[in-house]
Amino acid sequence: MQYDVILPAAGSGKRMAAGKNKLFLELRQKPILIHTLEVFQQDEACKGIWLAVKPEERSYIESLLAEFHITKVKGLPDGGSERQHSVNACVKKVKDGNIVLVHDAARPFITIPIIHKLVEAAHTKGAAIAGVRAKDTMKRVKDGVIEETVDRSSLWMIQTPQAFDFQVLKCAEQRAEEEHFLGTDEAMLVERLGQSVYIVESSYENVKITTKEDLVFGEAILSQRIGG
Ligand code: C5P
Repeated sequence: MQYDVILPAAGSGKRMAAGKNKLFLELRQKPILIHTLEVFQQDEACKGIWLAVKPEERSYIESLLAEFHITKVKGLPDGGSERQHSVNACVKKVKDGNIVLVHDAARPFITIPIIHKLVEAAHTKGAAIAGVRAKDTMKRVKDGVIEETVDRSSLWMIQTPQAFDFQVLKCAEQRAEEEHFLGTDEAMLVERLGQSVYIVESSYENVKITTKEDLVFGEAILSQRIGG
């Protein structure tokens, strides 16, 4: 089953403090952005990639796409001040999507089998997101004091990709824009429509490269996958 993917790539990566877009940092001599793009480039079911970028980074990103032979990018709209705005800029460009995925460009270790599970679930159920079970004991804390120990069995840590029937995603984005609602992920916007969002069990390797330690995890994941 075919799909389009939206990759927000217009962040500033303040928590990485790299002095540049963290997506340009390299793992194994290749920018993080390219690692992520290559997964979708290689997946035959992916028919188009929409990349939200900062205007001042567009020409550099275009040169990376050419250098690494990424040919599926259909558009590079301007991102916005918040991730949600960047995603919405891409949603407005997608014309005839059936299933559309939103995936953080900063999660380069997503695998094709997980993507396909999400696409299938979104096709049958309308909305499905990747997540992993919480591993640690979870407590609610207020002013430095434990209020309660939360039942971990029902808690999931949410990742991307988040996969949707395109009309559902478009409707959710439109509503959020009209109501000036800012969510923490796309699923939250869809939940507001009263639509059920399903979870697909993902992998703990699907980390978002956020801080410097994540680069160490990233190198370790690549060593384990490709050796060396
Ligand atoms: O900052 P964080 O890593 O949580 O951002 C997740 C993804 O969203 C990154 O790929 C980042 O480039 C993107 N983003 C964006 N526009 C923003 C903020 C973040 O496209 N304004």
